Amino acid sequence: MSKPRVFVTRKILEAGLRLVLEHCEAIIWPGELPPSRQELIDHVRGVDGLLSLLTDPIDGEVMDAAGSNLKVISNHAVGVDNIDVSAATQRGIPVGNTPDILTDTTADFAFGLLIAAARRIVEGHRCVQTGGWKTWAPDFMLGVDVYGATLGIVGFGRIGKALARRASGFDMRILYHDPSSDHELPAELSAARSVDLETMLQESDFVSIHTPLTKDTYHLFNETTFQKMKPGAILINTARGAIVDPSALYQALKSKQIAAAAIDVTDPEPLPMDSPLLELDNLIITPHIASASLATRAKMATMAAENLIAGVTGKRLPYCVNPEVYQV
Ligand code: DGY
Repeated sequence: MSKPRVFVTRKILEAGLRLVLEHCEAIIWPGELPPSRQELIDHVRGVDGLLSLLTDPIDGEVMDAAGSNLKVISNHAVGVDNIDVSAATQRGIPVGNTPDILTDTTADFAFGLLIAAARRIVEGHRCVQTGGWKTWAPDFMLGVDVYGATLGIVGFGRIGKALARRASGFDMRILYHDPSSDHELPAELSAARSVDLETMLQESDFVSIHTPLTKDTYHLFNETTFQKMKPGAILINTARGAIVDPSALYQALKSKQIAAAAIDVTDPEPLPMDSPLLELDNLIITPHIASASLATRAKMATMAAENLIAGVTGKRLPYCVNPEVYQV
């Protein structure tokens, strides 16, 4: 019997690739960069399954180009904002993602950014590299303390909670804002307090974003939000770039309305080299690598492959974001 045909939009780690090739007749996009829209449309024609990355916008037009054979869209990410999930649901196509496994890796990275921004680690390194280190001085490169400070977490799902666990090890006071949170907190997080966004912004020394990008969270951090933040506060974003308005971020950092920010995600991605954000000393930017540990990326590749294979063989996806497709 012939194997199901699939298109994989980039070379994924071996653990996942092996599974895909074992079960499917696969075209793996060979480029280092994502396929263009036209290339994507050309390659999905007639496939049974699509394994996409967060860099691939998958909308109804792409699904229709694939046609009625398309049985699954498996995203190699926990976030699915690159996919029009309701268009997939309307067409009865299950969409898979890779939840849980990247939680701790991402929370480690977010906490790393937090410390780096508070203690000016990247700026200090740059200063040494460029010959700016002349002597030890009492007022040289002063940062702010992390221990004992207040951390506001926007979005108290898996990653937000994992960050709170790390922060409690630094004796931080934890506030969180998440309208969809269940409020049933595990014992070790019982000191965390649920507050409205405004209170969080006013009281937090650090604010870290862990909410998905939706139409409600698009530019949630804008000029008004920054004005409400505590002077001297530090913003961390490892969620999605478009949750923060880049011009408002630039203004808030340039005017020192907030002290610093550290972001792993930008809008757009990659950040163009002429972006004014690159001129700022009080901004750390990393290239969307919060989940990029070898072990985690191997697990993400495996989960994405498992979702793909389940979908093309008519089984329920193990990790599905639109399970309502199975109710029909
Ligand atoms: C995800 O999986 O959504 C992450 O952003 C990848 O790093």
